[in-house]
Amino acid sequence: MGPCGALGWGLLLLGAVCGAAGEPHSLRYFETGMTDAGTGLPWFVLVGYVDGEIFVHYDNNTRRVVPRTEWMAANMDQQYWDGQTEIVQGTEQIYRVDLNTLRERYNQSGGSHTVQRMYGCDILEDGTTRGYFQDAYDGRDFIAFDKDMKTFTAAVPQAVPTKRKWEEVSEADRWKNYLQETCVEWLRRYIEHGKAELGRTEPPKVRVWGKEADGILTLSCRAHGFYPRPIAVSWMKDGEEQDQDTQTGGIVPNSDGTYHTWVTIDARPENRDKYQCRVEHDSLQPPGLYSWEPSKPNLVPIVVGVIVAIVAIAIVVGVGFIIYRSHAGKKEKGYNVAPAQDDGSSSSATGSDRPVI
Ligand SMILES: *[C@@H]1O[C@H](CO)[C@@H](O)[C@H](O)[C@H]1NC(C)=O
Ligand SMILES: *[C@@H]1O[C@H](CO)[C@@H](O)[C@H](O)[C@H]1NC(C)=O
Repeated sequence: MGPCGALGWGLLLLGAVCGAAGEPHSLRYFETGMTDAGTGLPWFVLVGYVDGEIFVHYDNNTRRVVPRTEWMAANMDQQYWDGQTEIVQGTEQIYRVDLNTLRERYNQSGGSHTVQRMYGCDILEDGTTRGYFQDAYDGRDFIAFDKDMKTFTAAVPQAVPTKRKWEEVSEADRWKNYLQETCVEWLRRYIEHGKAELGRTEPPKVRVWGKEADGILTLSCRAHGFYPRPIAVSWMKDGEEQDQDTQTGGIVPNSDGTYHTWVTIDARPENRDKYQCRVEHDSLQPPGLYSWEPSKPNLVPIVVGVIVAIVAIAIVVGVGFIIYRSHAGKKEKGYNVAPAQDDGSSSSATGSDRPVI
C-alpha cells in the first residue's frame, strides 16, 4: 500500500488503479439443483457474484447465461455469453445425473432433494489469492476441496465414492488450476470492467427509534441505502457492545443495488439514554454513533398541536374582535407551537441521520 499510495498522489489515475489493487475482491458461483421443487421455481440455477454483487445468472428456464450488471452487459462480447452458456447448459445436465446418483446412494425413494455447489476465489489486500470449492446435499456438507493440500474431503460416507472417482480423473489438478489461475484472472478482468460501480461507496442513512410495550423498550436501528454490502450494526450500552437481547433481519439487497439492515435491542425504559447504535461501514470514518431522539416520535403530536392551534386561532378570529383581544395570551401560545415544529423536523434531518463526531 505504501509505494502505491505515494505514486497515487502523483497521478490521480494511477492512484485509482493502485487503490483497486489493494482492495480485497471475491468471485463466487452458487449452483443449485433440486428435485421436485414443486414451487414453480427453476430446478437448476447458477448465480455468479463479484464482490458480493450478482453479476451473472442462468436457470433451466432461460437456458442462457445473462448479465446482471450494466458493466457486464457493456463489456462482454457475444462469444463470452455463448461460451458461458454452453458450459452451464452442460452443468445443468450433470446436475440431473448427480441428483439421481445421490438419491440412490442415500437410498431415497423420492421427495425433494437439493445439490448445491459453491466455488470461487478471493484476491486479498496483500495480493495473495484463495480458492474455495464445496458441495452440499440437502443442506449438509458433502464434499470439499482443499486447494493447498490438493485433496477432496468427504464429509459423509456417501461422498467417499465421489472422492475416489474424482481422484481417479485428476479432478484435483483441474480445480487447483481453475481456482488458482483461471478464476483469479477472470476476477481481475471483472473488477477492471466494474470498478466504477464496484468501487463506489454510499453511506447508510441511519434511523433510530424506540417503542415501549409491557415495560420493555424495544430500540430499533435501521441502516438503509448503503453500498458496499459489508456493514456492522451493533447496540452499545454505556459504550459497551451488547449482543444479548438483540435481533437482526440480516443484510438485504434493495432493487437499486444498495442494501439495508436493522438491529433491535430490548432495554429497560429508564436506561434509554445509555443506548447508542454503532454503525461501521466503509463510507463512515470513524464509525457512526446514533441515539434515539424521541423528538421524532413527538413530531405527530406536534403537528396535531399545530393543527389544533390553527383551528383554535380560526375560531378565535371568527368569534370577534373583543373576544380575540381577550384571548391574545392564548394566541401567543399558539404561535409558539410553530417554532417547536421547526425544532422537531431539523433534529430528525440532522441529529439522528448523521454520525456524531
Ligand atoms: C425448469 O424447472 C422448472 C421446475 O422443475 C420446470 O417447471 C420448468 O419447466 C423447467 N424449464 C424448462 C425449460 O425445462
Ligand atoms: C442403502 O441400502 C443398501 C442395501 O440395502 C445398504 O447396504 C446401505 O447401507 C443403505 N445406505 C444407507 C445410507 O442407508
